[in-house]
Amino acid sequence: MKFFIDTANLDEIKKGVAMGMVDGVTTNPSLVAKEGRPFHEILKEICAVVDGPVSAEVVSLEADGMLREARELAAMSDKIVVKIPMIVEGMKAVKQLTAEGINTNVTLVFSPAQALLAAKAGATYVSPFIGRLDDISQPGMDLINDIMTIYRNYGFQSEVIVASVRHPMHVVEAALIGADIATIPFKVIAQLAKHPLTDIGMEQFLSDWEKRAQ
Ligand code: E4P
Repeated sequence: MKFFIDTANLDEIKKGVAMGMVDGVTTNPSLVAKEGRPFHEILKEICAVVDGPVSAEVVSLEADGMLREARELAAMSDKIVVKIPMIVEGMKAVKQLTAEGINTNVTLVFSPAQALLAAKAGATYVSPFIGRLDDISQPGMDLINDIMTIYRNYGFQSEVIVASVRHPMHVVEAALIGADIATIPFKVIAQLAKHPLTDIGMEQFLSDWEKRAQ
């Protein structure tokens, strides 16, 4: 399973890379806006420190505008994956970008039907948002199960990025289902390492070590 880090914050990305846990990065307009710096400047810096795909989202609502933005973003680095919203205009853009050899990540996916369309359009990646479904009392993980079943049924090549991850169990459950990728906030990557018995065990080992024969 690949881990992407879900942030536009360079410090978090560098920490995740140092841990060896970053196979790629996903950003979105909200995450970029939080950084208070120009979009392209942030993307260039991310591409310089990450050895893997970096998702950058378009904001146009029509296919032509999406294509213009996408080509400009893709020209910045081979690592750029253009994030396209799951709307009909978006699917037109994905079809064309796939034909041009530009990698895409279809975002804001909330149903198996949407994921089916994205795969048929040729998306490189598809991002179902599980946390936002959980937030409205719909089990997000059921969506991952359904999408994986559909993609396996037909051999679709689109990789599933489990997105809107809120806690470690989201990652573990996604791994049990066999999802290709989880895009994870830095805080949750750090939480994955934690176990109280590890801390207690370490404390015990170190205290016993101090009492050893010299
Ligand atoms: C994924 O690509 C999105 O950036 C992200 O996972 C959205 O997460 P949120 O629901 O916590 O905003």
